[in-house]
Amino acid sequence: MQLTLILIALLALISTVRAVHYCAFASTISCTGDAYCCDDNGGFCCGQWPVAWGWSVQWVGLPSSTEAQAYGSSSCSGNSAVQEFGPGTQCRQGGGVQRFGSINWVHLGSKKRVRVENATQECTIPSSFQYTDASGTMRVIKLASKEDVDAVGMHSLARNWTALASFPKYNDGTVAPAQS
Ligand SMILES: *[C@@H]1O[C@H](CO)[C@@H](O)[C@H](O)[C@H]1NC(C)=O
Ligand SMILES: *[C@@H]1O[C@H](CO)[C@@H](O)[C@H](O)[C@H]1NC(C)=O
Repeated sequence: MQLTLILIALLALISTVRAVHYCAFASTISCTGDAYCCDDNGGFCCGQWPVAWGWSVQWVGLPSSTEAQAYGSSSCSGNSAVQEFGPGTQCRQGGGVQRFGSINWVHLGSKKRVRVENATQECTIPSSFQYTDASGTMRVIKLASKEDVDAVGMHSLARNWTALASFPKYNDGTVAPAQS
């Protein structure tokens, strides 16, 4: 009996701290292909990708009672251009008209964003970049700085697979999230 209660409490805890994977794509019409991605527990602002990205955005597996937002600005400021609600995976295409400069998600009732201490800009950088190389293999690399973010964008546009492959793999380098 007690063990069951402990298990239920643990499961509840795990589900509330689950990170959401959310991405900004180069595609204007779908949430597939090259993308900068962020993983966090909500309340952050993620942005600072190059202008060729942010034309569609996706949140994978939003928990229930959550709200996701995408902004035209690069700092999650001003009015959000797009709002989505959990539960579930949500994709919003910009249609070539709307570009999203920053994205976030929050648990409903806690809309405050967490500020990154001493950050020069308000948004955190994406933690990974996913792309498909010349052999058709989807790869995920880790981004550690704004310089990484910009360099990776440049190499991706130049289809420089050698340069992209020199970045460390993110987790085990596989893409877990479903795409739609
Ligand atoms: C932020 O800046 C303050 C003042 O310069 C410094 O004391 C503090 O250690 C910094 N925090 C981080 C996380 O770098
Ligand atoms: C790929 O990037 C590397 C590292 O920046 C550079 O040295 C190399 O010349 C690039 N290759 C091509 C084909 O652009």
